Amino acid sequence: MGTANNITWHHTTVTKTNRHLLNGHKSCVLWFTGLSGSGKSTLANAVDEALFQQRIRSYVLDGDNVRHGLNSDLSFRTGDRKENIRRIGEVAKLFVDSGQIVSSAFISPFREDRQLVRNMFEPEEFIEIFLNCPIHVCEGRDPKGLYKKARKGAIPDFTGITSPYEVPPAPEIIIETDKITLEQAVNKILSYLKGKKIL
Ligand code: ADX
Repeated sequence: MGTANNITWHHTTVTKTNRHLLNGHKSCVLWFTGLSGSGKSTLANAVDEALFQQRIRSYVLDGDNVRHGLNSDLSFRTGDRKENIRRIGEVAKLFVDSGQIVSSAFISPFREDRQLVRNMFEPEEFIEIFLNCPIHVCEGRDPKGLYKKARKGAIPDFTGITSPYEVPPAPEIIIETDKITLEQAVNKILSYLKGKKIL
């Protein structure tokens, strides 16, 4: 596959700032990262619901769902995970440009890949939320039965077992999903957004 030439960037007539004014809030990406079973999808959806109830424009991008469509051509090998995260970063950027608060729930196990996405955004727009949950707890939950399969060797490159998870060195928010309730976790994130005057 070659790359495209002769393309020009068009600036939009309605700006991101215009959209923020219309909506009455700023836009950002809540980048949830953590092991499979750490609670990313659950928390991303709970935050999204809380925002929706407050009439805030928001949306969830979820690993399993995106891998059914946009990224159905990608595996879990390192290079494909990188491409998975790069595409999601670009999609999240479109959502942020459109004035929304996007909650993305991908394992995104590699520091370099998360940094690449961070670099796509203005500093205040990218909020990394590390779901810090010990692997034995995630494995005990095993909502999709994948750890069980991975332990039997039936899933190659499984994060936390046969593929690494690199802990974020400086996330904006850390949530210990085995120590606090879902409601407390949602409140922690909403307080952060209010503190940063995004809401
Ligand atoms: S990422 O590493 O590229 O960010 P992503 O979040 O899109 O992963 O997808 C992870 C989801 O795919 C997991 O929640 C799990 O349901 C499923 N999955 C299937 N195979 C694997 C694997 N080898 N490692 C991790 N998750 C896997």
